[in-house]
Amino acid sequence: MNINPGKSLYIQEVAPRDGLQIEPRFVPTEQKVALINALSRTGLAKIEVTSFTSPKAIPALADAEAVMKQIERVAGVEYTALVPNVKGCERALQCDVGEINVVMSASQSHNRANLRMSCEQSLAAITELVGVARGRAHVNVSLSTAFGCPFDGVVTDARIFELVARFEQIGIERVALCDTTGVANPAQVNRVFSSARRRWPALTFTAHFHNTRGMGLANAVAALDAGIDRFDAALGGLGGCPFAPGASGNVCTEDLVHMFEAMGCTTGVDLEALLAAARTLPRLVEHDLPGQVLQAGVATRRYPKPEWLEAQAR
Ligand code: COA
Ligand code: ZN
Repeated sequence: MNINPGKSLYIQEVAPRDGLQIEPRFVPTEQKVALINALSRTGLAKIEVTSFTSPKAIPALADAEAVMKQIERVAGVEYTALVPNVKGCERALQCDVGEINVVMSASQSHNRANLRMSCEQSLAAITELVGVARGRAHVNVSLSTAFGCPFDGVVTDARIFELVARFEQIGIERVALCDTTGVANPAQVNRVFSSARRRWPALTFTAHFHNTRGMGLANAVAALDAGIDRFDAALGGLGGCPFAPGASGNVCTEDLVHMFEAMGCTTGVDLEALLAAARTLPRLVEHDLPGQVLQAGVATRRYPKPEWLEAQAR
């Protein structure tokens, strides 16, 4: 595998947005703020704090302004928020975000189901948004359903690259390719990210995977092998899009950090602090979570030998 030992990776936490947006329980504002404040102290590179969407569409994040204004800002952590349109961008800019994360889908049907716009309308909105945000915040485009759509099926590599070319023309410098419903496979991920990096070396790409079919960590390794160093992930493996049938949790942040560190990469994240934050999640969302390292312990965990084995050694 094409991985330099000690390679530095950027881990970008999306649980407060991608995670909480699909939860039936409204997590009270002060609990969201406490979670984000704990995450800020773990060494994560970026935290997606909330989304500035229609509160009718995403009631779970209707307190976006309050959360964004109440969190403690830790130096070195970038704070971002998802927006669907220019109105969301203007709301986010009032709250001192470091980055606007504007979303659109590669497929028409998911874009309409999620945003009630055609892809062309979204591209026009993003063009306007770049002008509004210029000099005030970075802009990242998160391209949903980039590896397949729950309504339209296959999304070709050519479709992804057509859209990335449009983003570059518009002046976008950051692009996340998002596998919204966990249909991407490692061969596809490696191929797409390798080509994208070759064609647009100046763009900053992020890999955003969901573990809906158990391919999440394999896809992250495939993206790493393609030279990607930025990964979205959600604490505890929370996550999912309410407008994509069958969507479920993101790749779990603590499992991802544990794996990358075991491989010799440097994430800058304090795994113990992350696990401590993950332990608080079931109380917030009132259900168990799929994170595996929290259940199993780290790979270097050691158990006492059976008593009879100890006795033999004595
Ligand atoms: N923030 C808050 N309110 C917004 C808004 C925003 N970013 N954008 C639009 N609205 C409001 C409008 O002001 C209008 O309010 P009103 O009914 O009080 O007049 C209402 O929402 C409808 O506006 P319209 O432009 O017709 O939007 P829509 O009904 O076509 O919905 C979206 C479009 C994009 C606003 C909505 O679908 C949305 O917020 N989707 C978010 C999807 C999402 O986050 N998915 C998960 C992440 S991938
Ligand atoms: Zn997602």
